[in-house]
Amino acid sequence: MSARDDSLMQIVKTSPVIPVITIERADDAVPLAEALLKGGIATIEIALRTPAAVDAARAVVAKVPDMSVGIGTVLTPQNLADAKAMGARYALSPGATPELLDAAARGDFPYIPGVATASDVMAAVVSGFSVLKFFPAENAGGIAALRALGGPFPSTRFCPTGGINEKNFRTWLAEPNVVAVGGSWLAPAADIAAGRWDAITARAKAATSAA
Ligand code: 3PG
Repeated sequence: MSARDDSLMQIVKTSPVIPVITIERADDAVPLAEALLKGGIATIEIALRTPAAVDAARAVVAKVPDMSVGIGTVLTPQNLADAKAMGARYALSPGATPELLDAAARGDFPYIPGVATASDVMAAVVSGFSVLKFFPAENAGGIAALRALGGPFPSTRFCPTGGINEKNFRTWLAEPNVVAVGGSWLAPAADIAAGRWDAITARAKAATSAA
């Protein structure tokens, strides 16, 4: 396993449930990160899906140092470079392109490419990545598909996201090749918008005690 993937493994070992955050107001980022940390969650994926995402990530990096920030929805080598410049600890993509895999493989920044098929896994593995995001996990065949992918790729580790929720996350985490799960259920957009930090802490606590 590369040094890049070793540092990823350290992060997910401490905190295997990763909230996927779509943030509309950067000012919500710090109270949100604090609410999750209070519930025992020490890493988040801030998705580059909204204009507020970059400022949100920078604020959490600066003010909540115990929270490991991952940047999600990384689509281009520029996004990847931006994630590193924001002070994030790692980046993730819903899929992968040859350009992204090349750029990430040339650098040392921890990166989790997205995969849904055996060909996707091959492309990521030959580029040197061993921790992959299985997305969209439930729609791409669920646990049965993940088990099948595990056959030809026994040393690959997965972080499934997409359709993971409070009901099924434990089942996913129990798979031997799953090192973390991600999902939006821990910090839904409506709770963030309404500042329901206690509800978010409660969900985080429920997830960390079960994980
Ligand atoms: C992701 O980017 O990982 C997904 O949007 C999260 O999927 P979910 O909303 O089904 O949890």
